[in-house]
Amino acid sequence: MEILKKFSMLMLVLALSAMMWNCTKEGPAGPAGKDGKDGNATCGVCHADNADAVNLIFAQYNLSMHNQGIVYEEEAGRIVCGGCHSGDGFVEAIKLGKDDPSTVATSKISCRTCHPIHDKYDESDFALRWNQSVKLRKGGTEVDFKLGNTCAKCHQARAYNDVVGPDTTFKTSGSTTYTRFGPHYGTPANVYSMKGLYPIEGPETIPSTNVHGNLTKGCVSCHMGKLASNPAVGGHSFLMTAAQFTEIQECKTCHPDNTTFTETPKAKEIAAMLTEMRQILLDKGWLDISQTNTEHGYQVLSEYIAQSKAGVQMTKEQVQAILNYMYIAKDRSNGIHNPRYVYAITKNTLEFLKKQ
Ligand code: HEC
Ligand code: HEC
Ligand code: HEC
Ligand code: HEC
Ligand code: HEC
Ligand code: HEC
Repeated sequence: MEILKKFSMLMLVLALSAMMWNCTKEGPAGPAGKDGKDGNATCGVCHADNADAVNLIFAQYNLSMHNQGIVYEEEAGRIVCGGCHSGDGFVEAIKLGKDDPSTVATSKISCRTCHPIHDKYDESDFALRWNQSVKLRKGGTEVDFKLGNTCAKCHQARAYNDVVGPDTTFKTSGSTTYTRFGPHYGTPANVYSMKGLYPIEGPETIPSTNVHGNLTKGCVSCHMGKLASNPAVGGHSFLMTAAQFTEIQECKTCHPDNTTFTETPKAKEIAAMLTEMRQILLDKGWLDISQTNTEHGYQVLSEYIAQSKAGVQMTKEQVQAILNYMYIAKDRSNGIHNPRYVYAITKNTLEFLKKQ
């Protein structure tokens, strides 16, 4: 009897799935809304035209680069990239307790990347798949950003070998095995936790704590902040505006005056320092920008330590200065992820580079 019940339930689910698959390939809004009938109650919680909360999340998610990104198309199928660039790769890596998957890396980053969708068919399916602390790939430190741990799994530097020994001279050609030496694309988790960057000495004292380090949801406190007057922004678009920040209560304890968000003087200064640093690096032939012009415009993520110019050599500290530039430029928050720390590191690194 039990088995039969389960079997007929399974058939019903399969039939409904097939129906829904014909109606919509995107998931919600499901068949009930489409053909005007009351759908299966369990499915209707999320798949119905009146499942407003979930449908809004879908609309927001459609705006996100997680959904629209070009990188997926490029990296789909590459297992070594799949832990961060594909949905099924991320899920498999978590199941294996590893950073990278071992068999799959083909699906896009979707709801079921971060949530165990269709597990219990109720609200618990919106729990986060990953909610523990994260062991950083570069350096191995454990960091805990609360709800932001999901973000940190992917938005962190990849591992690379440091230049060793005080007298080592790093050749830009021939001595590295790896043309993409450095932290690569997503550095926010490293900048937020102050792990990976090099504390070059200079006029500024480098702080040992992040003024934004104790936000109640970590990365999520800012990136998923909502705006009552415009539900399309924030939330699952992961995009922010100054207006959203004014509605996040916890920011008010330290930013009672909303102008901190609209006029961000430190962020502007950091952006200007990065431009100056970049020019110094270009003048020295230390930065390879040959891959930065994409169809979407200039892409700072694709800047690398120059490898091609034979004969150019750098000291360990010079390499560290370039790596600092990469961490901060690729982080792309102009310091907001860790205001005082990034300001100090940027200033000291710039002063160091000016003397080279
Ligand atoms: C708790 C919310 C929830 C419930 C309940 C739910 N679904 Fe879904 N369903 C989703 C979400 C979210 C997606 C989108 C998954 C994605 O894109 O990653 C989805 C996607 C789908 C899809 C598109 C194909 C796929 O698997 O991605 C089908 C078909 C589907 N659901 C059928 C059903 C049926 C049939 C039921 C009832 C037995 C049901 N769902 C119950 C949330 C739910
Ligand atoms: C499975 C890995 C993964 C997870 C988990 C992840 N991201 Fe991403 N994220 C990416 C990738 C890859 C891109 C770049 C996509 C592209 O351009 O093709 C990206 C892009 C972004 C962007 C660019 C802007 C946009 O439109 O979305 C932001 C902001 C962002 N992620 C924030 C977050 C936050 C906040 C979290 C945690 C709630 C998070 N990400 C979780 C991999 C991930
Ligand atoms: C530790 C996670 C992680 C791994 C592993 C990873 N990436 Fe990424 N990658 C990211 C994130 C996160 C972004 C998006 C950063 C952002 O938008 O801020 C990204 C962005 C990119 C981009 C876009 C750069 C640009 O200029 O727009 C390319 C291309 C890319 N990755 C290729 C790869 C390839 C190829 C591999 C495997 C060899 C790989 N990635 C492995 C996290 C990772
Ligand atoms: C990159 C990771 C990521 C992806 C992809 C993602 N979510 Fe979420 N989701 C989160 C995080 C983080 C939270 C917690 C937000 C909070 O508590 O402020 C969340 C919360 C939720 C909630 C709880 C209510 C709320 O709005 O906070 C629902 C429902 C939800 N997600 C549905 C979805 C659906 C549907 C999709 C696909 C369209 C999706 N999520 C895709 C990370 C993700
Ligand atoms: C204090 C608020 C705040 C916190 C906390 C925060 N961010 Fe950000 N983040 C920003 C702002 C502001 C920007 C710049 C956005 C822009 O220019 O559109 C940004 C930029 C980014 C970008 C680049 C987006 C782009 O399109 O240029 C990514 C990716 C990102 N953050 C991920 C993260 C991750 C991962 C964490 C947690 C480790 C995090 N952020 C924590 C506010 C925050
Ligand atoms: C514990 C106190 C604290 C909390 C809570 C806090 N901040 Fe900050 N924030 C700071 C400090 C300190 C600075 C650096 C100001 C400086 O050095 O001039 C800063 C700087 C900033 C800046 C950059 C300003 C500039 O001058 O460029 C932004 C944007 C920002 N915070 C956004 C937020 C948002 C959004 C929240 C809520 C999610 C938040 N902060 C919560 C303490 C806090």
